[in-house]
Amino acid sequence: MVSRVIPVEKFDLVIFGGTGDLARRKILPGLFRRFLSGQMPAGSRIIGAARSDLDSAGYRKMIADAVAEFGGNESSNTKSLQSFLQQLEYVAIDAKGEGGWAALKALVRQDVVQAFYFSVAPSLFGDLAERLHTNGIANENSRIVVEKPFGRDLESAQALNETLAAHFRERQIYRIDHYLGKETVQNLMAVRFGNMLFEPLWNNHYVDHIQITVAETVGVGGRGAYYDKSGAMRDMVQNHLMQLLCLIAMEPPGQFEADAVRDEKLKVIRALQPIDHHHIVRGQYDASPDGPSYREDAENPRSFTESFIAMRCHIANWRWAGVPFYMRTGKRMKARSSEITVVFKDLGHTIFEGDEARHRNILSIRLQPNEGMDLQVTIKEPGPGGMRLIDVPLDMTFADALGDNVEDVADAYERLIMDVIRGNQTLFMRGDEVEAAWRWTDPLIEGWEARNDVPKVYDAGSAGPEDALMLMHRDGRKWRDIKA
Ligand code: BG6
Repeated sequence: MVSRVIPVEKFDLVIFGGTGDLARRKILPGLFRRFLSGQMPAGSRIIGAARSDLDSAGYRKMIADAVAEFGGNESSNTKSLQSFLQQLEYVAIDAKGEGGWAALKALVRQDVVQAFYFSVAPSLFGDLAERLHTNGIANENSRIVVEKPFGRDLESAQALNETLAAHFRERQIYRIDHYLGKETVQNLMAVRFGNMLFEPLWNNHYVDHIQITVAETVGVGGRGAYYDKSGAMRDMVQNHLMQLLCLIAMEPPGQFEADAVRDEKLKVIRALQPIDHHHIVRGQYDASPDGPSYREDAENPRSFTESFIAMRCHIANWRWAGVPFYMRTGKRMKARSSEITVVFKDLGHTIFEGDEARHRNILSIRLQPNEGMDLQVTIKEPGPGGMRLIDVPLDMTFADALGDNVEDVADAYERLIMDVIRGNQTLFMRGDEVEAAWRWTDPLIEGWEARNDVPKVYDAGSAGPEDALMLMHRDGRKWRDIKA
């Protein structure tokens, strides 16, 4: 396969929070990979801006270390790394005061694409947005990039949207959900809308139910303080899982264009029905020989925050009426595995006398790891002995199917940052989408808070609490096995 790297226009990218964890782990190593692939035009600048009292030389050293630690194989390419580092500058800045703004103004050019990445606490968004204008740095074509969490409920998300809207237009605001930057997540759209095979069956006439699983093996140790105020619902469902749900359930957009795609996703979120609390299971992982319990990791012995959640949702529209969508996500589970599974209905009638078994077509799309898809189909078991049917997978693992020549796939952050420079908002969340998602999750969270719901304890290394298994068993269905 031929790699097609399309260079972007020359840019100045300012990273507020440029010395922070995200910048060092993801953003800068990602930009270095784009530099290596030839996508970053000569003369582009990356400007780290943070409180630390550093100069550009000190910043380059910090980023060289970060690339060595988090950059993978590419980090050994020292000659290129030196050229990349020459494109980096640093400004010590005071988000709430005047310090550093004149220096930043002197560095950021008005005749190239300008992007400002707010990799800082949301409480600083307003200050940064305002100072970018009062200091005459931002212009009407500048882009700003903001990270999740985008609020912690509808009210705070609305307040953030208003703060940003006071200084920038919606077409300038890029809200990141890094799941949308994953290659396989985009592939969901290619599978659905690039094939004749699936779309005619993609509805309540043929689909029995859909499962979405995002299982992680990591716990929350190290970020317990943040996580304990958030929980799986706010940290994963309100954003990443809902984006997956939208892509799997939305109507085909008229074209692959930012607002056309986002309009269709919004309709899915708005059609989500409230969930009865019997259809939500929350859990907390227990201590195990490999690690502490959730409450120990969160340093909160009385925490009621969930590290696991499973739920049954319904989308009230013609396509999906009556089709349950089961979603689950959790920490410290038995394997790292993200998968979407579409389980088709039973045959209306079988012509094979004596075949008692249930045969169902099941399409599963593996998002990570071991990206690929398989389709379970029913065939005749080879050999004599009459017409015996068996189910076998038509397996398409991307690494096998696409071979060694497959282009080195860009990480989610690299792809998304390049989209910002290109001015393509398709893979970013619009303000109304984020608000609609909170409008749906808020009452669910308020419901369990009001009931003082205590999460069920589950074994680390398991598939979550028993009750989550029961959620499907009660409906005569079963979760897919979680395997890496
Ligand atoms: C983040 C969450 O947004 O996504 C983390 O805050 C989670 O809790 C992470 O671990 C999962 O991302 P990925 O790309 O590893 O699936």
